[in-house]
Amino acid sequence: MQVHVFDNAQQVGKAAAALFAAQITRKPDSVLGLATGSSPLGCYQQLIEWYQAGLLDFSQCVSYNLDEYVGISHTHPESYHQFMQDNLFHAINMKETHVPDGNAQDLWAEAAAYDAAIEKAGGIDIQLLGIGRNGHIGFNEPADRFVYGTQIVSLTKSTIEANRRFFDSEDQVPRKAISLGIGGIMHAKAVVLIAMGEDKAQAIRDTVKGDVTPAVQASILRFHPNATILVDKAAASLL
Ligand code: F6R
Repeated sequence: MQVHVFDNAQQVGKAAAALFAAQITRKPDSVLGLATGSSPLGCYQQLIEWYQAGLLDFSQCVSYNLDEYVGISHTHPESYHQFMQDNLFHAINMKETHVPDGNAQDLWAEAAAYDAAIEKAGGIDIQLLGIGRNGHIGFNEPADRFVYGTQIVSLTKSTIEANRRFFDSEDQVPRKAISLGIGGIMHAKAVVLIAMGEDKAQAIRDTVKGDVTPAVQASILRFHPNATILVDKAAASLL
């Protein structure tokens, strides 16, 4: 695991975008693993700028997002389908995009089909991750085990509170999500985890220096052969 500390959040986003750009330049038909939330916004903005400047071409790339809430419509402003449209997909020329369907009739069948589709696409070449304050990656919440495949999860109180800022009230925050499992994340050929701000400092410390434990799901990345952690000074403050 490599850890790089930057002065500010903007630099973290640019550094993550640079790793994605290098991957796409090396392999134009890359399979990209994408995330939502506040952390990737700077990265996506930079990728859009490079695309608009003619430096990047996504026309052969395929993307798979990590997760989606269960039970909100794809066009809900806070759905991850809509987030990806608004913050990345509308502005670039990605060949194919995939976000798990949190409205599928049979969610576990959708989960299995999602894993099978990623495998058929050749596996994820580079996976972008944010991290929860509780150390979650995707929506793999603290638990007593690591779950391998895409799963349906109940969000913890900490995650519901953290995501409350995007909704009118806490009641409106979905309680369940469909998320790539830890096996899916660990199978990515490269993983780039980004974190900014003081409220991520403990999770980053636990991930980088604590025990490898399902109580801190991101800690499993210490066993990944090509994991890069990009953080600003605030998120690195407990290292
Ligand atoms: C999002 C995801 C989550 C977020 C994490 C951090 O697709 O899987 O693990 O990355 O909750 O969220 P932000 O970046 O909003 O702090």
